[in-house]
Amino acid sequence: MRVGVLTGGGDCPGLNAVIRAVVRRGLADDPQHSLWGFRHGWAGVLNDDGGELTMQSTAGILPRGGTILGTSRTNPFADEGRDGLATILATLENRGVDALIPIGGEDTLGVAVRLHRAGVPIVGVPKTIDNDLGGTDVTFGFQTAVQIVTDAIDRLHTTAESHNRVMIVEVMGRHAGWIATHAGIAGGADAILVPERPFDIDVVCARLRRRHDRGRSFSIVVVAEGATPREGTLQTREGTATDAFGHARLGGIGVVLEGEIERRTGFESRVTILGHVQRGGTPVAFDRVLATRFGVAAMDAVAGGRFGTMVALRATAIVEVGLEQALAEPKLLDPGLYETAELFFG
Ligand code: F6P
Repeated sequence: MRVGVLTGGGDCPGLNAVIRAVVRRGLADDPQHSLWGFRHGWAGVLNDDGGELTMQSTAGILPRGGTILGTSRTNPFADEGRDGLATILATLENRGVDALIPIGGEDTLGVAVRLHRAGVPIVGVPKTIDNDLGGTDVTFGFQTAVQIVTDAIDRLHTTAESHNRVMIVEVMGRHAGWIATHAGIAGGADAILVPERPFDIDVVCARLRRRHDRGRSFSIVVVAEGATPREGTLQTREGTATDAFGHARLGGIGVVLEGEIERRTGFESRVTILGHVQRGGTPVAFDRVLATRFGVAAMDAVAGGRFGTMVALRATAIVEVGLEQALAEPKLLDPGLYETAELFFG
């Protein structure tokens, strides 16, 4: 049997641990199995760009960030000049690939759903630092991102206190405020702004003033890149660039907040946009373990012929869920968690 593996979408700490686990499990089941790595996500399948993954080529990659396969946001169905489905089917046929394990988020796995409907045997592995994929309690990469942001908030605390400043920390989170809320709680944020709850800048400023009135001379505001003001309350800049899946390039809400908070409160403010630092570097132990369990489970699902599934974490168990159902809705922030965070605001 030959199993194709690819990593698509934004990279994420733990991708290499999944690749390593798929290879290890596949070759342990049968040394005659072949694991074929496609390069740069769906681009590698479209362009028949890939190579054999072996014990040797995947040795030592467990703690390494990024992905040895490379990744891209290629959407095989977005190019009107080429029949993406036919091209992919031809590559799989020519390469003798019997099943595919795509490792990705909503977009990469969305393509996987369409391929599965067309008859391609597929088992998905969910990844995103944003932790907003349905069907699984947690995605690998999330804990690493939360730790990176928490470390940054800790550092910003000491400089904020020294200068009596409001520090605004912009973090990733396109649809959901998981990173902002977890790191905000862990770092003791005084306000957390998330996409699920459009914010009112007047309320944010009132909370900061209340805190300063109590004698605290600095504050930390964590904002997810996808957070938006309540309609009509604040003008923000509109981004125009979009990717092959139609997503706008986010980033910059922190800059708007820096200006508005300083103008409205008179408190000196500074913004730090953490950006791709949150996706880089070595995965924390939790993500290495989860990614390894996902990789082993994905290969098991392939060996058992359970296609159209996605491996997932439910409580502490690894399970298989329907791929299509898992992608039906994004997993938004737990309101109870946000209420816990709110208790410490202002
Ligand atoms: O989907 C994960 C994510 O990190 C989002 O939070 C963010 O909006 C996006 O990727 C950024 O991706 P890119 O690498 O294309 O800038």
